[in-house]
Amino acid sequence: MINTKLPKIWYGGDYNPEQWEPAIWSEDERMFQLAGVDVATLNVFSWALNQPSEDVYDFSWLDEQMDRMSRTGVYVCLATSTGAHPAWMAKRHPDVLRVDRMGRKRAFGGRHNSCPNSPTYRQYSTRLAGKLAERYKDHPALVIWHISNEYGGYCYCDNCAAAFRVWLKERYKTLDALNRAWNTRFWGHTFYDWDEIVPPSELSEEWGHNRTNFQGISLDYRRFMSNSLLECYKLEYEAIKEFTPDIPVTTNLMGLYPELDYFEWAKYMDVVSWDNYPSLDTPVSLTAMTHDLMRGLKHGQPFMLMEQTPSQQNWQAYNSLKRPGVMRLWSYQAVARGADTVMFFQLRRSIGACEKYHGALIEHVGHEHTRVFRECAQLGKELQGLADSILDSRSGARVAIVYDWENRWAIELSSGPTVALDYVKEVHKYYDALFKLNIAVDMIGVDADLSPYDLVIAPVLYMVKPGYAGRIEEFVEGGGTFVTTFFSGIVNENDLVATGGYPGELRKVTGIWAEEIDALFPDQSNRMEMRQAWGELEGSYSCGLLCDLIHAEGAEVLAEYGEDFYKGMPVLTRNRYGQGTAYYVASSPEAAFLEGFLSNLCQDKEIAPLLADVPRGVETALRVKGESRYLFVLNHLADEAQIQIGNQVMRDLLSGEQIKGQVSLPGRGVLILESM
Ligand code: GLA
Ligand code: ZN
Repeated sequence: MINTKLPKIWYGGDYNPEQWEPAIWSEDERMFQLAGVDVATLNVFSWALNQPSEDVYDFSWLDEQMDRMSRTGVYVCLATSTGAHPAWMAKRHPDVLRVDRMGRKRAFGGRHNSCPNSPTYRQYSTRLAGKLAERYKDHPALVIWHISNEYGGYCYCDNCAAAFRVWLKERYKTLDALNRAWNTRFWGHTFYDWDEIVPPSELSEEWGHNRTNFQGISLDYRRFMSNSLLECYKLEYEAIKEFTPDIPVTTNLMGLYPELDYFEWAKYMDVVSWDNYPSLDTPVSLTAMTHDLMRGLKHGQPFMLMEQTPSQQNWQAYNSLKRPGVMRLWSYQAVARGADTVMFFQLRRSIGACEKYHGALIEHVGHEHTRVFRECAQLGKELQGLADSILDSRSGARVAIVYDWENRWAIELSSGPTVALDYVKEVHKYYDALFKLNIAVDMIGVDADLSPYDLVIAPVLYMVKPGYAGRIEEFVEGGGTFVTTFFSGIVNENDLVATGGYPGELRKVTGIWAEEIDALFPDQSNRMEMRQAWGELEGSYSCGLLCDLIHAEGAEVLAEYGEDFYKGMPVLTRNRYGQGTAYYVASSPEAAFLEGFLSNLCQDKEIAPLLADVPRGVETALRVKGESRYLFVLNHLADEAQIQIGNQVMRDLLSGEQIKGQVSLPGRGVLILESM
């Protein structure tokens, strides 16, 4: 647990006092106090201040801020400031500048702009992290390290090309193995020398977003880039740990961000932290899924909500205000799903450059008499009231959904069968159905142990990595229920097709053979006709996107296609395997089907909803700690909702009241119910 020094849900956020005159600082202190702010993230983008030139370091400004924070009872999440290099560095050492996918060498500007394989960047960022750790290792304000900021973006420069070749040599050992893995006899690509290999940019194999001639090469470049950035992180991590082995280290992730394999990253993070920026029209279940995914990165360990806006963003197309109560509601949504901190970008709004219209605790008006400040201060007080009660608690979920970045990359890079296949959307469809059923879900990677779960769902498991099919078989054999869908079991980790019939290695456990895959136009659909009523499913449901034409080979057929030349072929099958069951959903069904289907599976396994009787728009989530169970009820509706909490008396941690039976929850209201 990270919150030991300050055993409560940390409350605060990014703070940039270096952008302000000292006269403002005492106002900040006063207002932090009023708002209940107890953690400030300092030094996120201050490399140029810390190192004004090649050999000069100057931390005097930061010394002053660190001391000021501890004097005023605010702890520090200390960033290493390596998310943007100084201008002098770009001028003197152009190797820090990235080359983009179009092959253009960047000039100085922006942020998150350093080439991850630049010797200069690696040397100077590591040195800076070490210097900070050495300097502040005993500082009483320091509670956590924040390396760089929102790592991301790829580089295609010559240093990266050279490092790619080294990475490939390590992965494949021989050119023969590489040529096989990339299937290079296609289009005469056989490589005879490692130096012939170039990054897959717009100058070589790629064109446009996720379009490539060679999936194997592009997939490896994504792995390599994710790893190159991770190497930069690890170098700073090591430099820090040398001085402060016991202070946790994180870097702020971005949820469903496509470019980095966060399951791999999380192995090297003491705690996961992430930045949550939904827009007004983001489905709440998508935000919930993302929180669950961030919690899943470290197998259920609580995470930090590192950033969210108190009111509005600046970088979306339409930067709506969070409606009254929504900031509080979404903060508790994060906590409900495993956050042990609630932090903002940012504490005081800047006056210049592109984030001056980004919301902050302290707005341009400069005082506390604003709607946003009042709402933040109320939340600050409530979080103080919660003290350490729910810290370090877990989800208690018995259902897991598998999510895998490499699988996502492979699907997105795929040329055919349809441009409309969106991995995240398909995963979210399953998640959303469970969300509506009020069933707790863990989002897990392909490394996760399956044994804690009764039901495991792997939507579009296109890539089956070595050993994974065996682990699924073992899970099902032992009594688990497994669900997978169309376009699964198609390729191995190199995007090479598993011959012998789809779904490849999953054929045995699913008991089916998919002979062909039909892609439907957006306005086309097919039907899933239930052969007979089964629990909450009966009659016919619409489906589309892709339709696998499958044959049951041992599996029982529960539903068949209702239209087209494959009318009558199976679309939903169930295969008994060992003590368990594997389902194959051969097309992308409408939501009503998924709700009925997943409800049936949960009932089979006696997995009960967290609350049986809640209106749509009200979210439930559970945190479990030892014998204590904390049930969160979050009303996302603007209007009051009636909730049945049953006959057991519960205590609401926020109001302190004891309640049971029917409860009316105001619009955007929150309950945290502890069983008595
Ligand atoms: C990101 C960054 C912050 C800030 C916010 C604005 O999350 O980490 O520095 O730019 O976005 O929303
Ligand atoms: Zn580079």
